[in-house]
Amino acid sequence: MIVSTSKNAGVASISVDNPPVNALGSAVRDGLGHALADAADDATVGAIVIACRGRTFFAGADITEFGQPRTGLQLPELCDRIEACPKPVIAAIHGTALGGGLEVALACHYRIATGSAKLGLPEVKLGLLPGAGGTQRLPRLIGIAAALKIAALGSPISAGEALASKLIDRLAGEDSLIEEAAALAREVAAVRPLPRTSERPVSPDAGAVSAFRKEHARRFRGFEAPDAVIRAIEASTLPYAEGRLIERAEFDRLLAGAQSGALRYLFFAERQAAKIDGLDPSAKPLPLALVGVVGAGTMGGGIAMNFLSIGIPVRLVDLNADSLARGVAVMRKNYEATAAKGRLTNGQVEAAMSLLTPDPALAALADCDLIIEAVFENIEVKRDVFQKLDSVAKPAAILATNTSYLDVDVIAQTARRPGRVLGLHFFSPANVMRLLEVVRGKATEDAVLATAMVIARRIGKIAVVARVCDGFIGNRMLKPRQLQAIELLMEGVAAERVDRVITEFGMPMGPLQLADLAGVDIGWHRDPKRIETLRDALCAAGRWGQKTGKGFYDYDAARRPSPSAEADRLIAQFAKERGYVPREVSDREILERCLYPMINEGAKILDERVAQRASDIDVVWTAGYGWPSYLGGPMYWASQVGLRTIVAGLEQHAARLGPAFSLSPLLAQRAAAGKGFQA
Ligand code: 3HC
Repeated sequence: MIVSTSKNAGVASISVDNPPVNALGSAVRDGLGHALADAADDATVGAIVIACRGRTFFAGADITEFGQPRTGLQLPELCDRIEACPKPVIAAIHGTALGGGLEVALACHYRIATGSAKLGLPEVKLGLLPGAGGTQRLPRLIGIAAALKIAALGSPISAGEALASKLIDRLAGEDSLIEEAAALAREVAAVRPLPRTSERPVSPDAGAVSAFRKEHARRFRGFEAPDAVIRAIEASTLPYAEGRLIERAEFDRLLAGAQSGALRYLFFAERQAAKIDGLDPSAKPLPLALVGVVGAGTMGGGIAMNFLSIGIPVRLVDLNADSLARGVAVMRKNYEATAAKGRLTNGQVEAAMSLLTPDPALAALADCDLIIEAVFENIEVKRDVFQKLDSVAKPAAILATNTSYLDVDVIAQTARRPGRVLGLHFFSPANVMRLLEVVRGKATEDAVLATAMVIARRIGKIAVVARVCDGFIGNRMLKPRQLQAIELLMEGVAAERVDRVITEFGMPMGPLQLADLAGVDIGWHRDPKRIETLRDALCAAGRWGQKTGKGFYDYDAARRPSPSAEADRLIAQFAKERGYVPREVSDREILERCLYPMINEGAKILDERVAQRASDIDVVWTAGYGWPSYLGGPMYWASQVGLRTIVAGLEQHAARLGPAFSLSPLLAQRAAAGKGFQA
């Protein structure tokens, strides 16, 4: 029974059990509708409680139903029926009341929640807006400014915050929710009129709306849903029925749109990424009580913070005492900056820092369950560190390398426990970026991989498994794009134009801005007289990127870029020496030449099984490289554009794609079959 009712001393308790998250699919909606009607008709019932079994209250509409023909009782109507019920209805909330789940609760006459519960309207993250009255009822309950924050940003609030803003009426004990909800039901059974949220007044707040738009303009750039949410919330000042029509029209428009399709695809892609095909189901994750990090630079410090923040002690080792002290100071500064923004308390900062033990000797890592090295990106340096780690670490410890390009198998060979070695490629800043590439070596044991996935989840990362290759998934695909950007410069296209085309596409920065940020000198041979590439020419002139105040651009003290006459001259000169003649290049060609080779590389990655699935590649690019999530990731985007179009573009530009270019057979085959990568 998905929906069941028990009646006791005048209270009908409707209980829903639809694991894993009690999504409001059609069976749940129909069941609730019937149970509600039955309780309303039963003269022995004075009040009704709606609660859920399992780990959570309703986590929202069933996302898998979107795009399918609508069947059964619809959620907006169910919410209206709940609110119109002549007997008080109480929502008893535990876990998460999200999206349609919170809308059900808003339609109830009273709300009671456990202290650990979270409430939110995350539809905007799926490219949607709350479509069952949420944009109309929420502002009536907590005001326009507070409703905007919840519905347009999509981040849930705690039960404590919900109580303070009067979104809920009462807090309940963690183990006594159902009893306390029933007690509340009895208490209010005879109270009339029933508090119906849709009948409450709401005051216009144009100031709050325009301030909110301004504050979040950058975050909302390119996304359609936030604006629709804001407009629908503004419409809550109209009579309720009119506002609801606006909400519904916006919901239907967004649901049919490309952005929501892409964002819903990514929702499931992110969850799919956590699953490793063919993993031995008996391989159990290993315990993790103490973590070691080698290297107290920006990366090592950021990695350590992930663990400290969730209460796992860390031993941080750097053989250089100054670097160690500096690293610890930077970590403290980062925590304090977060506290200054109100996102941590001083107590939390101190608690995290108290779990950190800095030490200049590798011997300090002897008891660690997991040791992550984050030393200089050089195979010999890493091999040397690994050999030493292998001799100090306890036999069961997992050894991880935070490399972004290097061969994890070669590093693993230096250890007597290659099965316990893997790559954990964090992205900078490692305490902030959501992506973690988990690199599976030839010998990596299943239990070690399973542990890595559990750890990733605990520290709030989205993990994607990659097999060993140069650059793994993300950086390997980045390379052809960066090469094309340079090639375009050689053909006379200005750096700011290449970057503009890519940022207008939706990326947070262009390829040349990225090169300047990362360092033009990365991997440079350091001989200013040896000029074989454009990069050599720039590096020889001290144009190493932001760190020297000049690269493809010139930078001011605040690191703001401006076009550089010197860089332009160096580029033109180098291009001339190499026999390039400036040519007219359209924006479309720039876009195609930067992006299509990435898709080609992605197809090779898929073909070689470096990535398990196309959607994993999309997760890497959206979570780690700023690919706009409303375009679903490169492989999804390419499938929408049409793989035939991609292949035709690659063939058209083939002569300019460099000698290393070759069309991926998988891409050619899918295109010829009229398929996408997902099909
Ligand atoms: N519909 C269908 N399936 C859902 C779902 C939903 N709303 N929410 C979660 N699931 C599925 C996941 O795909 C996953 O399936 P899998 O095990 O096969 O991979 C499973 O439930 C467990 O989900 P998580 O791995 O995400 O579990 P967590 O415990 O980490 O997180 C959660 C739980 C916080 C509830 C998270 O799943 C979540 O954020 N869910 C989506 C919430 C949401 O966006 N709700 C709004 C929906 S749109 C809506 O309500 C429209 C309405 O306004 C009309």
